[in-house]
Amino acid sequence: MTPTVEELAPRTEDEVREHLVAGKLVEGLRHMSPEYLKGMRRILTVSADTELVSAPAYLRAAQHAPALNNFGSAVSIIQDELAHAHIGYRLLGDLGVDMSALIYEREPEAFKYPYAFDVPLDSWHELVMANALYDQAGFVLLSDVHASSTFGPWKRALAKVDKEETFHLRHGRTWVKKLCADPAEKARVQAAADWMFILTLEWFGLPDDRKRHGIQLEYGFKGMSNDELRQSWMAAVVPFMEEIGIDVPAHWDADGERWVIDCPFPARFDEERKAWLLDEGPIGWDEVIERWKARGPMNSAYVERLQRGHRSRMALA
Ligand SMILES: [Fe+2]
Ligand SMILES: [Fe+2]
Repeated sequence: MTPTVEELAPRTEDEVREHLVAGKLVEGLRHMSPEYLKGMRRILTVSADTELVSAPAYLRAAQHAPALNNFGSAVSIIQDELAHAHIGYRLLGDLGVDMSALIYEREPEAFKYPYAFDVPLDSWHELVMANALYDQAGFVLLSDVHASSTFGPWKRALAKVDKEETFHLRHGRTWVKKLCADPAEKARVQAAADWMFILTLEWFGLPDDRKRHGIQLEYGFKGMSNDELRQSWMAAVVPFMEEIGIDVPAHWDADGERWVIDCPFPARFDEERKAWLLDEGPIGWDEVIERWKARGPMNSAYVERLQRGHRSRMALA
């Protein structure tokens, strides 16, 4: 029988708080309370699932690489993502989770990565835009975890992950810039930005007035709130897009000292056409959550692809 979180994590909530107030890191189950353990498992699962699903998503688009050496760079990014996923799942294994069941036996809709990855990347333009936007989102989120996490083993592992994510987003930016030099290619880059920018805005989750973070911030699972993370992503992405002449619906408001979204947000998304129905105006977050929960077009195909090898091996055993 799998042990419960209560059996695995011996500390009380007060003991964890004292440990953290004393400036110490949590090094393993022996320092955890049930709430800390549950929260850490949740955030590690989201992170590892996101890294893992990016592999089939990027591989699908890598087929459109303009030349073999470009395909090679895409594959090296995919290898990094698999290694990042492995770090997360290994840590979950240390925290008493059945890693193999988690990766290979979960239903596709039970995976916890952002909805953006459920929408297919169908061209090299969309792949490099994903490096510029999605990897930037990953970088913002993981840098925050790296800076604030109280879980020592993860915090230390993220030093290397951060460097590799920097390479991914640089790959994205270099290519996006290069493609923009040619007007025909630029139009395709703009078309990719049109659906992918707003989808990445959603990535950071519910606005702060809708979501209470309580334990996530208190236990140092993250340092910034969802809206702060969204701001920090826009601060990195919008000036770059302006520099290369790609329009994105956001601007810096000097008076309010914040980035402002210039389109209805959140909005309805037509996932078959990969287009935002902005004319219909803003929608409520409940409708967005419904779309996220239903998952998108590629969810089962990607998870099936990730689980296929293991399944056939088990069938032979
Ligand atoms: Fe990654
Ligand atoms: Fe990445």
